[in-house]
Amino acid sequence: MDEKEKHDISPEEIKRQTRFMKVMKSWNDEYFAKTGRRRKHLTVTYGCQMNEHDSEVLSGILENMGYIAADDKKEADLIIYNTCCVRENAELKVYGNLGALKGLKRKKNDLIIVVCGCMMQQPHVVEKIKNKYRHVDLIFGTHNLFKFPELLMKSMKSKDMFIEVWENEGNIIEGLPANRRYKSKAFINIMYGCNNFCTYCIVPYTRGRERSREVEDIIKEAAGLAAGGTKEIMLLGQNVNSYGKTLNGSIGFADLLRELNKVPGIERIRFMTSHPKDLSDDLIDAMAECDKVCEHLHLPFQSGSNRILKAMNRKYTKERYLSLIEKLKNRIPDIRLTTDIIVGFPGETEEDFQHTLDIVEKVGYDSAFTFLYSVRQGTPAAKMEGRVDKETKRDRFNRLLEKINKISAEINQNYLNRTVEVLVEGPSKTNPNRYMGRTRGNKLVNFDGSENLVGELVQVQIIEAKTFFLNGKIIE
Ligand code: SAH
Ligand code: SF4
Ligand code: F3S
Repeated sequence: MDEKEKHDISPEEIKRQTRFMKVMKSWNDEYFAKTGRRRKHLTVTYGCQMNEHDSEVLSGILENMGYIAADDKKEADLIIYNTCCVRENAELKVYGNLGALKGLKRKKNDLIIVVCGCMMQQPHVVEKIKNKYRHVDLIFGTHNLFKFPELLMKSMKSKDMFIEVWENEGNIIEGLPANRRYKSKAFINIMYGCNNFCTYCIVPYTRGRERSREVEDIIKEAAGLAAGGTKEIMLLGQNVNSYGKTLNGSIGFADLLRELNKVPGIERIRFMTSHPKDLSDDLIDAMAECDKVCEHLHLPFQSGSNRILKAMNRKYTKERYLSLIEKLKNRIPDIRLTTDIIVGFPGETEEDFQHTLDIVEKVGYDSAFTFLYSVRQGTPAAKMEGRVDKETKRDRFNRLLEKINKISAEINQNYLNRTVEVLVEGPSKTNPNRYMGRTRGNKLVNFDGSENLVGELVQVQIIEAKTFFLNGKIIE
């Protein structure tokens, strides 16, 4: 790490930012007193749960400043894009959306446009926005998100686009507000950054080195959420299995689960993402022992070929991965498994791909996220030879998807007539007359419900099994 760029953030910093929030709040309150209208913000999020949670913090800060949520961009006074660059198409969407805002900004001069998140950690992206999207008002990165109140004020005073991106991370800042999106479940960051440097992945460059939060801070957050009615917590980190390594090794992830299992009011504990290389027997034991830890594990394998796994720097083999799955199934018989898979990594042959299909067949995933390999500038894989052509990639992708879907549909058939515990999340996204929720195994279930059930645990009998969800009825 560049010494000059090390950021030693004082714990007092939160007080400084709170002062900026207060100034903004009086500015917004004055506007409300004059016009009878509250200024509105629209926060748009791309990418993973990490980013979703960062957006909860951003909108928590905005609401502390007196903004309320807008339904669409036309009624917004401030628009934030919290961006992702894990694959090229995530980036393209952001550029498309920024371009579309040009006209709106021309009509509404006082509209504030903010862009932040992982994309901004790449200097070539910031350069492109500076040149091509001059209507943007403020740019910041992932490492200085806690400074949002101050940066927003500075950008409002500046005539030009205001840019502040830190190349490296600082220490963890506690105590920022968060406006939680769900009533039933809440995200808790247990660590930040990633040290794994999988050769295809940009995340270690956008999120910095791995660092874990103190156990006491995590427990305090969980207890606070439980007191407010949250029943399910989702622990977040790029590689939760290595939790604690930056805390002098005094506590590991398995122990953290055991501690959180004791928090009264919390009924379900989930976590993601797990890296197979760090999945210890102790963790499998903790998952089996702790009654609140759900019977679900998201365990990305990326590729089934040992040669490709080595080129990806994943540090496990197909055989080791499959033996982990066997251990998990033996120790936690009802465990549901999901995964991430990349198709078309440089040098991938048909034979390599057959190993990927073989893992899918042997494990039997409830569902899987499948990705076409996307070249990320600055990662080692971007310089590797043997690019797989588009058609071959597509063809493999389609064959993979077909196999995964067939297996998911078969697994779901086993749920027919069974009664399952569901935590009600809210109205169904596909049918607003119905409600949806998830089982402990993370199966999506739709049923007839009502608003007062949101955040409650209900018993649902499954009456229909589809590939991607189950339909059921609540048992009184
Ligand atoms: N830390 C997590 C998630 C990282 S990003 C983990 O290790 O599992 C989520 C997923 O995006 C990865 O699991 C991987 O499957 C996919 N991904 C990352 N970089 C990619 C790339 N360059 N092209 C295609 N998929 C990618
Ligand atoms: Fe990326 Fe690998 Fe880190 Fe996951 S573990 S964020 S895939 S480098
Ligand atoms: Fe994307 Fe950043 Fe998450 S690159 S996947 S938003 S950590």
